[in-house]
Amino acid sequence: MAKQEHNIIPRARNSVRKWMKEQSLPYKELISYYTCAMMEVETRFRVLDEDFSIKYDRNPIETIKTRIKSFDSIMDKLSRNSYPLTVESIENNLNDVAGVRVICSFQSDVYQLAEAFLSQDGVQLLVRKDYISNPKPSGYRSLHLVVAVPIFLHDHKKLMKVEVQFRTLAMDWWASVEHTIRYKKDVELSEQAAKELFECAEMSDALDRRMEYINSLARKK
Ligand code: GTP
Ligand code: MG
Repeated sequence: MAKQEHNIIPRARNSVRKWMKEQSLPYKELISYYTCAMMEVETRFRVLDEDFSIKYDRNPIETIKTRIKSFDSIMDKLSRNSYPLTVESIENNLNDVAGVRVICSFQSDVYQLAEAFLSQDGVQLLVRKDYISNPKPSGYRSLHLVVAVPIFLHDHKKLMKVEVQFRTLAMDWWASVEHTIRYKKDVELSEQAAKELFECAEMSDALDRRMEYINSLARKK
């Protein structure tokens, strides 16, 4: 869908944008809280990776990527869903302002890390979407969690929402390339292209499973 369509009241939106971006201390504060929560989650995964490497002699995490949703994307998402364009509304209505993507070697690592993370003190599960067991119609695979984690400020504790996406290298490769192909186009993908992409997702899933099997063979004494 073209971005322009969401600019229903462009002039009003522009003034909210200007105010929020340049003058709103609460907006800057909120984004800084999300940044803290994102760092908190990233650190928890780095600790888990270190612990797994001691116990199992290998690192289950290949990469951790983090991002804060841009101001424009936040505004677009609020408008698209007819939510108020206010700082409170961002916190109440959006789950993915702070995002952490954990890229693993194997599918079993995804579940092991997710369970270890969710069993930690202070991690509260809000949403779990398993697109590995139930891939999206596009073929997309990933385990998505929305969690609330505490951040400790100078005079109080605050719970912040973070979206965590777990993928294998193959899932991440497919999603990145598919995103490039899909979003380069102004129009919807042809049926043929969508079918080809879906088949590639199935093939990369088969590769994932095969690699996991090979790993189990290699580790047998
Ligand atoms: P958003 O408004 O996009 O955040 O959707 P949502 O809140 O319904 O969440 P959903 O569970 O659909 O996950 C959204 C995120 O997953 C996106 O921002 C992408 O990072 C990823 N994603 C979901 N579907 C696809 C897909 O078909 N292709 C790719 N490349 N990524 C996808
Ligand atoms: Mg999102």
